[in-house]
Amino acid sequence: MTKKDVPTPRFGWALTGSGHFFKECIAIMQGLPHLDVFVSKAAAEVMRMYKQEMVLPEGTRIFKDTTASAAPVGNFYFGVYHTLIVAPASSNTVAKCVTGISDNLATNTFAQAGKCRVPTIVFACDTAPEMDTEAPSGMVKVYPRRIDLENTARLKTFDDTSVVESLAELTAAVDARKQWLKSLSS
Ligand SMILES: Cc1cc2nc3c(=O)[nH]c(=O)nc-3n(C[C@H](O)[C@H](O)[C@H](O)COP(=O)(O)O)c2cc1C
Repeated sequence: MTKKDVPTPRFGWALTGSGHFFKECIAIMQGLPHLDVFVSKAAAEVMRMYKQEMVLPEGTRIFKDTTASAAPVGNFYFGVYHTLIVAPASSNTVAKCVTGISDNLATNTFAQAGKCRVPTIVFACDTAPEMDTEAPSGMVKVYPRRIDLENTARLKTFDDTSVVESLAELTAAVDARKQWLKSLSS
């Protein structure tokens, strides 16, 4: 597919190295038309650990984190994306996003989406003082620190940013964007 043939506008999805509902996030991606996926270095490793493969609809583009300048995110400036989804978002990515750091592919998608006023949905993983999450070997308990919970709370104050805290909320938020897209063409 040449650049000219790429249907736009598209969903952008940043996948980070959080294992929290990692497999389920890939399943949601499978139902998205016109999608670009941005994979952080940690996400690429975690994907192998959970034995996941990116079997995504034809035409989906997958960008790996191979450049220091996060070159693929330049497309945000040309109206290529109507929505960015960061899911699942690791504590690390959320912490960087709330402090304005953009030093890899995932954090750059968030920063550039913000600068281009592209609506963004973030599935934050640190949402309660005690949580169950799936490690590659099975379910484990995790106790997000106060700083992690504070960062999630701070992210909720960002413009054009919806922070979702469960898979059901993520599904509903993504569906709402799909409905909105549909309404444009009817
Ligand atoms: C199997 C596995 C599961 C992980 N799950 C989580 C998680 O649920 N939440 C989290 O914040 N970090 C998790 N991590 C740690 C992140 O991958 C690590 O903090 C990484 O630096 C995040 O980088 P990124 O934010 O650039 O993707 C996990 C790591 C591994 C190996």
